[in-house]
Amino acid sequence: MADTILKAINVKKDFVLSKSRKIEAVKGINLEVQAGEIFGFLGPNGAGKSTMISMLTTQSKPTSGEIFINNQQILENPARARKKIGVVAQHNNLDKGLTARENLTYHAKYFGLDDSTANQRADEYLEKFGLKDRQHDYVKSYSGGMAQRLKIARAIIHQPDILFLDEPTTGLDPAYRAILWEQILTLNKAGTTIFLTTHYMEEPEQLCDRIAIVDKGEIQAIGTTEELKELIPANNIISITFSNFSSDIAKQAKELPEVENIVVKENELLLYVRTAHPNFNPIMEWIKTLDTSLETISLSRSTLEDVFIHLTSKGGTENGRTE
Ligand SMILES: Nc1ncnc2c1ncn2[C@@H]1O[C@H](COP(=O)(O)OP(=O)(O)OP(=O)(O)O)[C@@H](O)[C@H]1O
Ligand SMILES: [Mg+2]
Repeated sequence: MADTILKAINVKKDFVLSKSRKIEAVKGINLEVQAGEIFGFLGPNGAGKSTMISMLTTQSKPTSGEIFINNQQILENPARARKKIGVVAQHNNLDKGLTARENLTYHAKYFGLDDSTANQRADEYLEKFGLKDRQHDYVKSYSGGMAQRLKIARAIIHQPDILFLDEPTTGLDPAYRAILWEQILTLNKAGTTIFLTTHYMEEPEQLCDRIAIVDKGEIQAIGTTEELKELIPANNIISITFSNFSSDIAKQAKELPEVENIVVKENELLLYVRTAHPNFNPIMEWIKTLDTSLETISLSRSTLEDVFIHLTSKGGTENGRTE
């Protein structure tokens, strides 16, 4: 069993705006992340993701609840916790009056690296993230994508045990997005745990070991992509086309095992099944008994995006409450 690297117990965050108005940004989240995992924390705008990350990384204090990194309460010794943590915040929190190189080396030295290691790592990451030629320019002169790449380099330069990435690929072009993922996977293989938010659903679907879907400050579901897909009723679709189609075929199809619903689209029969791994044998046996021949049969899966839409409210999710 892997060790738990991060644990949140009933973590809440209220923002008090005035005597009568309070925003419950995080409403009592419990979660555990295992060492070595790539953990996705997904939710719509305003769900509470960045607020949760700021508490997990000691940047803000929970209204209530407890957070442990490597079984140590982070607020008992925030400086100790920060050494284990790398953070790519959603907003640009670089020191804009310093050069890129200075941002990296100052950060590395703050975390205890000696001069030579700090410089060596700065060289490595400036090269990797395409910033070598601009390394001596002030960060205030950087484009959005360049600043994002520098934020990522800074977050990993002290080789943290757990790396928090709040929408890290936003603003990156496809080439740097690929470089970032390659870098994240390399770090993960070397043992770094990854805690990630993103709005690009294909990224967590491919990369995350487990995903939590959060909405309105609460976790709606947690599990592997496959486990989450099982939460959607009958969202795996077997599509069958026949040489000739009759209404009798549709009537019989309703009786097939595992089939929850059917839809007929011209010559195509769609069977909605609940399981992601349906048993095709009864379907194939049934088709043999029909007075028509099979042309095509295929299975399409629900995607993580379908799960996301199913589990989260659509449209505005600002969760301010007037009390
Ligand atoms: N410092 C703050 N003061 C008051 N309210 C805040 C503050 N920070 C966040 N909020 C509110 O808390 C809620 C959650 O915001 P948060 O930034 O955590 O959402 P998010 O899930 O990261 O959204 P996004 O996908 O847009 O980044 C929102 O209603 C937001 O307006
Ligand atoms: Mg956010």
